[in-house]
Amino acid sequence: MIVAGSAGSLPSFFTVPTRVSIIVPTYREALNIPELTKRIDAAMRPTGHEFDLWLMDDPSGDGIDRVVAELGHSWVHLVTRTPPRGLGFAVLEGLRKAPGDILVVMDADLSHPPERIPDLVRAAEQPENHLVIGSRYAAGGTIDGGWSILRHINSRAATWLARLFTWVKDPMSGFLAMRRDILQRAVGELDPIGYKIGLELIVKCRCRTVAEVPIHFSDRALGKSKMGLKEQIRYVVHVRRLARWKYGELARVAEFGLVGLSGVVVNLLVVTLVSDQMARMDFAATARLNTAVTIAVLVSMTTNFFLNRMLTFGDKVRRSLRREYLTFVAVCLVGGVVNWWATTRLAVQWRDVFLGLQAAALCGVAAGMFFNYLGSRLFVFRSNPR
Ligand code: GDD
Ligand code: MN
Repeated sequence: MIVAGSAGSLPSFFTVPTRVSIIVPTYREALNIPELTKRIDAAMRPTGHEFDLWLMDDPSGDGIDRVVAELGHSWVHLVTRTPPRGLGFAVLEGLRKAPGDILVVMDADLSHPPERIPDLVRAAEQPENHLVIGSRYAAGGTIDGGWSILRHINSRAATWLARLFTWVKDPMSGFLAMRRDILQRAVGELDPIGYKIGLELIVKCRCRTVAEVPIHFSDRALGKSKMGLKEQIRYVVHVRRLARWKYGELARVAEFGLVGLSGVVVNLLVVTLVSDQMARMDFAATARLNTAVTIAVLVSMTTNFFLNRMLTFGDKVRRSLRREYLTFVAVCLVGGVVNWWATTRLAVQWRDVFLGLQAAALCGVAAGMFFNYLGSRLFVFRSNPR
């Protein structure tokens, strides 16, 4: 392992110590700055690296400027940001502005132990590591107790979604280190919506090898967390964008499939509700069945249409709603016929196979869906991307 310098094979005599820039997004963190800077200083000074700290503050009005001025450290830079505000914007601006060869990102609230920065830096200097994560879930990593069950579930669910892109143990971590040349790979492509900047970097910088340094994640020292429902929704939007970026058309097909699945749920609900209601009103069984199924098909087709219009094909230029809707219905009708045709054909072939009918029906659904997708793509939502 190299302690200082990035020229791997040269003796340390020839290596120039790399410069480390630490980027910390802040919003109402003035109270934490003295302790943060003290601990960073104590951790970094013995390493021999030149280092600087970039506090990327979204105007907090909490006197952080006075705190920084009173500390009087030349290596601490306060950047008071202008809108658009947000954690992602702040980190990206910091990554662009800071001069370091190694870039470290961490929180201001002392959840991320500054004492581990040298370990992260050392790992980031290894040419084979594209990104280094301070990890709560790597072997040896820990978190302060007292997390509510809901926070655990949230964190796990979010990690699970990230599996679309990476198998690292803690892709949600905001404690990161990387070399500038790796960052450079994605310049201009980084999207600041990401609260989860690590995930953004893994995907866009095409980080194949990601090292995880175990850390102890403390509860925030002072102040309040900004992580709420809004950030969680933003995370889902972020994952969707990353999926589109990485998987292109395939991600669109998957979205279409998910919308279709939601349509199945809607269909089942409506068919149950309508038929129950009609039973209470003493309708005959056949009339009940026919009406309930018809309404269920119409309603689920309509919810599918709107969801696909908003999500799956949300990037297409809109044409007349009526025309789009009618074309969609036409496509679905043909898809239904394809489904019926494939199912009946296969069911005959698989007559003697265990669960043959069900397998045939599944294949029918897949064929119908595929047809619906092509139809929607070619005839319904076909205009050019915005
Ligand atoms: N500039 C700026 N603008 N900074 C912000 C903003 C903003 O709008 N919102 C939050 N920050 C800063 C905070 O001041 C803090 O330094 C850091 O971003 C993290 O915010 P917290 O509010 O402490 O987030 P958290 O504790 O819920 O999230 C932590 O855990 C996540 C994993 O569960 C952070 O470590 C995240 O980075 C991490 O992904
Ligand atoms: Mn925090």
